[in-house]
Amino acid sequence: MRLQAVLYLLLQLSFELSSCSHLRVISGTSLELPCLSPQFDSAEATITWIFNGKDISEQPPPSVRYKNNGLSLSISPVTPANEGQYACLVKENNIETIRMHNITVVASLDITIKVNQGSEVNLLCFLPPSSQVMANAHWFKETDGVRTVLNPEDDTVDNKRLNLLYPLDQDQTILIKDTVVEDAGIYYCESADGKRLSTINIIIEVLPTKPPFSCDKFPRAWEPCQDENSRTGEPMLQESMTEFSMKLYSYLRESYPSSNLLISPMSISGALSHLLLGARDKTRKAIEWAVCVPHDFHCVHFQMKKLREKLAGSLEMASQIYYNPQMNLTESFTHQSIQFYEAEPTRLLETSEENTQMINNWVANKTKNKITHLVDSISPNTQLILLNAVSFNGQWMVKFNPKPKKGLFTKLDGDLVKVPLLYHHNYMVAMTHVAQLKAQVARFALSGDSSLYILLPRSNTVADLQQVEERMTDTAVRQMIEQMKTTSPAFIEVTLPQIKLDDQPDMNILFKKLGLSSLFEDPNLCGLNFENSLVLDDVRHRAFLALTEQGVEAGAVTAMSFSRSFPSFTALRPFIMLLWSDLANVPLFIGRVTEP
Ligand SMILES: *[C@@H]1O[C@H](CO)[C@@H](O)[C@H](O)[C@H]1NC(C)=O
Ligand SMILES: *[C@@H]1O[C@H](CO)[C@@H](O)[C@H](O)[C@H]1NC(C)=O
Ligand SMILES: *[C@@H]1O[C@H](CO)[C@@H](O)[C@H](O)[C@H]1NC(C)=O
Repeated sequence: MRLQAVLYLLLQLSFELSSCSHLRVISGTSLELPCLSPQFDSAEATITWIFNGKDISEQPPPSVRYKNNGLSLSISPVTPANEGQYACLVKENNIETIRMHNITVVASLDITIKVNQGSEVNLLCFLPPSSQVMANAHWFKETDGVRTVLNPEDDTVDNKRLNLLYPLDQDQTILIKDTVVEDAGIYYCESADGKRLSTINIIIEVLPTKPPFSCDKFPRAWEPCQDENSRTGEPMLQESMTEFSMKLYSYLRESYPSSNLLISPMSISGALSHLLLGARDKTRKAIEWAVCVPHDFHCVHFQMKKLREKLAGSLEMASQIYYNPQMNLTESFTHQSIQFYEAEPTRLLETSEENTQMINNWVANKTKNKITHLVDSISPNTQLILLNAVSFNGQWMVKFNPKPKKGLFTKLDGDLVKVPLLYHHNYMVAMTHVAQLKAQVARFALSGDSSLYILLPRSNTVADLQQVEERMTDTAVRQMIEQMKTTSPAFIEVTLPQIKLDDQPDMNILFKKLGLSSLFEDPNLCGLNFENSLVLDDVRHRAFLALTEQGVEAGAVTAMSFSRSFPSFTALRPFIMLLWSDLANVPLFIGRVTEP
């Protein structure tokens, strides 16, 4: 049956090319010759089959039968007597159509196939029809006169590319996958009793290698922002930042379902936007997609600069580029780095120790010593290091009780841990239940026009935590921010754990989830380096956050319990935090506390 299918395919192919086909058929197999397409309405037509010039419609030769009122002719089994020219003559409304098939009957299949290196090829071989197949056919390969036996049915490592498709079947076709130049040669298929069934000459064609990559066709500089005063630029970046932040958080929480988490989407997007300056073509699209900015948003760098300047009172952002002096940075990238990111590319030093120290010093300086260590060593192969640091300092608008106190935090597994508290029996705070997020939310006002939002799930269980997290889409979070802005603050008892989060999530995985795998493989950074010789090999992110009595940094307070009848907000179980710039209307930090 499979042979027929293969031949059918060949026939249909040849019909499209000409009305005459030439087929080589192995003696003993079956064959079906179509006269017209099956859709043809034969009611009005008369069909005549002619074999070697003789009308055979009335008296078909041995082993020939007609199907579908002559619409096709079936030969089974094919014998040398069937060799010759078959013509199918159709007469309808005085119109005559003729279709010819030239059949050559061969003892075995003898063909030459050209395949492209790396593709796969089927080597056909069919055992003569018999009631039962007792043994597989034997396959041989001949190269330069040397004959080797192939064992396609063996499942050894060596034969993984070679497969006998249907063991103990009439069809003894083998498949060669991922062809290599060495696969070229003559293949023989023989039956168990030594009868040659097919001879297949495989020619492997090596595809021409791609022309060397050139940056010539990509623009050097990032295109200018045409309308710096556009009203849409700022909200566009705000939306992108929120969407990006929630996307990041959702990827992270999948990777780390129950541990503490902390990232600064601001810093990650700052670094990615900076890299975007030098990205072209597919790499540019990938980064734009990752940071959720539209492709034609030429003003993205200008708006990033404006955002950085706007936030400067509370969040300081700095960028830096260190490069290997043996590498050429394009002038436009250097220029635009300074223009938009205030980062003047600096040369790396001689040794790994000097570079490690230089980078950790920079990090410590730009995070105001909140993070003093980022890298353990810098490989001598390093070509370029792009850094982005943010430092935030916000004081509570209402101070907590300065007397330190301890309380019990209930972890996800129900265990209790003793923690120092931030407590106030009468604290001015906006608090409400946000139905859409299934969370109790409190907003703590900070200096610098920022707020800390704490989202408290219904209970300490993983299920309730996950329920809130799943609902935290960018739209839901924006709606929450709006709802909280209209919620009047009231005096309530407040208890928060004093926490110090220092987290370093696996950014390599996160980048892959963001669709940035190509940065690790073959990025197009033509705008940055004209030789385009850079690939990403490591991404790190470390975030630190402390809730203190002064604000988002250090402090102490008293606990509050649920048994009280007046409204209270007690974050003594796992919660999610969002540090938000109310001024710029963008998220600055986002995290989760499951164990203070
Ligand atoms: C088919 O066979 C006829 C007669 O043998 C010959 O004249 C003709 O050229 C052949 N056509 C093809 C396409 O092989
Ligand atoms: C950098 O540019 C200079 C001058 O154009 C060139 O000679 C050198 O080969 C380039 N370096 C690399 C690593 O391609
Ligand atoms: C960072 O470096 C600058 C310039 O060297 C210096 O003035 C500043 O005090 C440093 N800041 C910290 C926190 O070390």
